[in-house]
Amino acid sequence: MCGIIGFTGYLDAKEVLLEGLAALEYRGYDSAGIACCVKEENPIKIIKSVGKVSELRNIVPASLDSGCGIGHTRWATHGGVTVPNAHPHHAGRVTLIHNGIIENYHELAGELAKTGRTPVSQTDTEIAAMLIDSLYEGDACDAIKKASERLDGAYAFCILFADQPDVIYCIRKGSPLVICNTEEGSVVASDMVALLRYSKEYFVLPESQIAKLTKNAVTVTDLDGEPVMPQMLSVNWDMSAAQKNGYKHYMLKEIHEQPEAVLRTVTPRIKKQGELLIPNFSEDGIPDELFLSADRVIIAACGTAMHAGLVGRILMERLLRIPVAVEVASEFRYEDPIINEHTLVITVSQSGETADTLAAVRLSREKGAKTLSIVNVKGSSIARESDYVLYTHAGPEIAVASTKAYTAQLAAFYLIAFRFAYAKGTLSAQDCSAYMKSLSDIPKAIEDTLLSKDITKELSKRLTPSHDLFFIGRGLDYALSCEASIKLKEISYIHSEAYAAGELKHGTLSLVTTGVPVVALATQPDVFAKMISNVKEVCARGAFVILITTPQNAPLVDRSVADVLISLPETESEFTPFTAAVILQLIAYYTSSYRGLDVDQPRNLAKSVTVE
Ligand code: M6R
Repeated sequence: MCGIIGFTGYLDAKEVLLEGLAALEYRGYDSAGIACCVKEENPIKIIKSVGKVSELRNIVPASLDSGCGIGHTRWATHGGVTVPNAHPHHAGRVTLIHNGIIENYHELAGELAKTGRTPVSQTDTEIAAMLIDSLYEGDACDAIKKASERLDGAYAFCILFADQPDVIYCIRKGSPLVICNTEEGSVVASDMVALLRYSKEYFVLPESQIAKLTKNAVTVTDLDGEPVMPQMLSVNWDMSAAQKNGYKHYMLKEIHEQPEAVLRTVTPRIKKQGELLIPNFSEDGIPDELFLSADRVIIAACGTAMHAGLVGRILMERLLRIPVAVEVASEFRYEDPIINEHTLVITVSQSGETADTLAAVRLSREKGAKTLSIVNVKGSSIARESDYVLYTHAGPEIAVASTKAYTAQLAAFYLIAFRFAYAKGTLSAQDCSAYMKSLSDIPKAIEDTLLSKDITKELSKRLTPSHDLFFIGRGLDYALSCEASIKLKEISYIHSEAYAAGELKHGTLSLVTTGVPVVALATQPDVFAKMISNVKEVCARGAFVILITTPQNAPLVDRSVADVLISLPETESEFTPFTAAVILQLIAYYTSSYRGLDVDQPRNLAKSVTVE
């Protein structure tokens, strides 16, 4: 949510900033701006525009000669999408960019007004710039420290001081910042994807510590001025992993990367035990005791990550026979949740920075629960603050609509459920091994599913003019329906709802009229007959029925109830969420694409939600 980049060094700063902003645009794309240090009377030049980074590029003069600057791509929180509200913001000697929300900005604005300071924008960020300027007496770290003591909320700031050319100061609380230093200069960004062009080695700026970036070095100090040595991290992917590589959209590329994403997540964690295949987390440092000592599990996450948790819940309850609840992270912290040292809280997050999910980790730890996070981004806040972390190895996910991160999260839940059921003795070693074999076959099953792209293309043409759409299923299929619904909604702007199939007739069936599309997932053998009854109910109201099922069940379907029948590749029934997810993602993708929408950057959304 908002992308930040800063550079000081020996390259053309405006190019570094504009390329970095293009890489970070998925974090917000309402408006964008840069500020560069120049050798003129007014030493900081600010250029901002409404719209995408490409529009900003059009107005940045080629003659802008600078080796130091900061840039920002915005997802509006306070104040509309206007040029004055775009970042960078300027107050006196301070120019800054911000990711996060300053919760007490109104109160601070009141205080600053008494000293004659009036903002020109409607943003919380400008108030922060004014505050820092009001505290600046030549010592940048001191002003930043004093400001941080006054600011409530979340922030990542990159700050330029007019009297310190070519130096960038940074501080963060709750919002991410990663930093690297190379022979070409020092770079700071919200996300590693913007640093990758310069280095694979980086560090995450620890919270409430100040980084000072100069052309040749980066120094970090705590708020008392004591030097800090941050922990260096590295990524094992390169620039091509964060590019489209010939695909029209990142989303389509990422859908096709799912076999690899699942393979990379699963393979290192399946070990041979004699002839048997058993999941093993010793290299992740996750002990069996974590589950054996838990009397209940709570999964907290947002959006698609939460939907992966819905599948995880079913698997864990079935296999482990302990209560598992799924909580929307944004509600969890305000519900005074009943958790204690016997509770295991599993959080799930692609970015590892989602503010509400991070808050769930913090609250759970405060209350004595153990926390395990399933996270894709290495070194992210959620990963660092959890007791244990199980990384998904999906690689960088750029499209706002999450696809490969979701199936990698599913894979993580399958590993967890099987390992701990085995450790607990509720699953025999033989059965566990058989499941592991099936899980190892999933990447191939996903590849086979991708071969049925044409069916989804055809179907999507039919769905393109729809206004409303329903996804129905039972058990695992209901969990998947929830994911299918959000995917379609967020990128195609078609209203859709996911319903437990049996629940439809308790109210929502009144919305199902002639021609309304209903996607029915019927992959689970134990509820197949019941599902078909529910399909008949919508069929009787004239719905346009798309039935997704398995090769085992397909021959049992009375074809008069399905306008379109999609048969998934053969897998054990427990594993159909992987293949069904791919079909549903493709339907969402093509529907959005045929509607001529911006698939990768849907309106009003951003990839990483670092505000509550
Ligand atoms: O980074 P996270 O996994 O924590 O993000 C959670 C949600 O914001 C995210 O899954 C969102 O729902 C996606 N846009 C869905 O495709």
